[in-house]
Amino acid sequence: MGQMENTSTSLVLMLVGSALMLWFHPIQAQNGLFHDYYAKSCPKVEAIIQSVVAKAVKKEARIAASLLRLHFHDCFVKGCDASLLLDDTSNFTGEKTANPNRNSARGFNVVDNIKSAVEKACPGVVSCADILAVAARDSVLISGGPSWVVPLGRRDSRGASIQGANNNIPQPNSTHQTLETKFKLKGLNVVDLVVLSAGHTIGLSRCTSFKQRLYNLTGNGKPDPTVDQGYLKQLRTLCPQTGTDDNQTTPLDPVSPTKFDTNYFKNLEVGRGLLITDEILYTTKGSETAALVKFYARHSQAFFQQFAKSIIKMGNITPLIKPRGEIRKNCRKMN
Ligand code: HEM
Ligand SMILES: *[C@@H]1O[C@H](CO)[C@@H](O)[C@H](O)[C@H]1NC(C)=O
Ligand SMILES: *[C@@H]1O[C@H](CO)[C@@H](O)[C@H](O)[C@H]1NC(C)=O
Ligand SMILES: *[C@@H]1O[C@H](CO)[C@@H](O)[C@H](O)[C@H]1NC(C)=O
Ligand SMILES: *[C@@H]1O[C@H](CO)[C@@H](O)[C@H](O)[C@H]1NC(C)=O
Repeated sequence: MGQMENTSTSLVLMLVGSALMLWFHPIQAQNGLFHDYYAKSCPKVEAIIQSVVAKAVKKEARIAASLLRLHFHDCFVKGCDASLLLDDTSNFTGEKTANPNRNSARGFNVVDNIKSAVEKACPGVVSCADILAVAARDSVLISGGPSWVVPLGRRDSRGASIQGANNNIPQPNSTHQTLETKFKLKGLNVVDLVVLSAGHTIGLSRCTSFKQRLYNLTGNGKPDPTVDQGYLKQLRTLCPQTGTDDNQTTPLDPVSPTKFDTNYFKNLEVGRGLLITDEILYTTKGSETAALVKFYARHSQAFFQQFAKSIIKMGNITPLIKPRGEIRKNCRKMN
């Protein structure tokens, strides 16, 4: 008992210690990204982004979640290169109509507002991909979560991949193995999978993303047995089996929907994870993910430190750097 407490205490201290080191010694630019990238060319960029994000979140708390998700959906397709932000045109198909994004990815107007403010201060300098990375950090912080130093210097793509968006971003009914595999393909491990999934401590989901588990999980006419009964009843009321609006939304973390905290993990422990892919992190017997959920449910600081590390790692996925790519004038279209 005392032994176990000591072990977890020293584990926490270790995690805190290594995160502090990360803070004071940001990873050197092995991949071309570094925090001071705009120090001369746009010294106020982070303050400008932060103020537009703050204004938008004040108007609608959900925007923090929407911006965080945009960074994830950008990074999992061809790296973090703002490919997600390109609008479709008559001769170009972007990623916005891909399954994980259609009628679901949002916050694009806020990104436009950030870009306008940044362009005003330093025209043609700051990439849309970097804006997404900084806006995600600000969104988490403003929601009560951790902060971190964002490596910068990403460039914007001159293309997009709807196939990449459909294939690389996991579906809400992916299996445990598929989740692990899709993260591994992006260089992210099981710890990254668990803490980044906890991005679902804020934001909303539509019925369509979890209805399968309310009525007919595996085609045998039965609901997912791992859902708490009271929660199941509540979700079935919101999302009736037939003839209604599957666009209705409900919080991914019903306990504290706009607060970035450990309730995401605590919910999983009591059958109140919203998506199949949330709950299976905990219910998959003997899995490393289940042990991690239990650990982070009780160690908020460790969760915050690891979230910062893992999202920096996600932001470093195959970066597009000079001389490749461009700095878009308008995030919605190539120059
Ligand atoms: C592990 C695999 C993941 C799956 C299968 C998944 C799936 C989903 C789904 C289905 C929704 C609701 C979409 C809708 O119905 O409109 C959602 C929302 C969201 N996701 Fe994920 N997600 C995953 C990982 C992540 C990661 C890594 C992050 C960020 C670190 C993230 C952040 C969010 C946020 C913040 C929302 C709410 C967005 C809003 O309210 O606008 N997700 N996700
Ligand atoms: C697509 O159409 C626009 C406007 O007609 C044109 O300027 C652009 O060059 C076209 N792009 C491609 C890739 O063909
Ligand atoms: C997951 O959802 C998709 C789309 O809704 C569906 O086509 C597929 O059959 C589901 N997969 C499983 C394993 O239930
Ligand atoms: C459940 O799904 C299966 C296969 O998709 C279907 O044959 C069956 O009729 C469904 N049952 C109910 C009760 O909806
Ligand atoms: C959900 O909303 C989208 C547009 O926002 C619409 O195209 C779609 O038909 C709606 N779905 C339902 C089931 O109402």
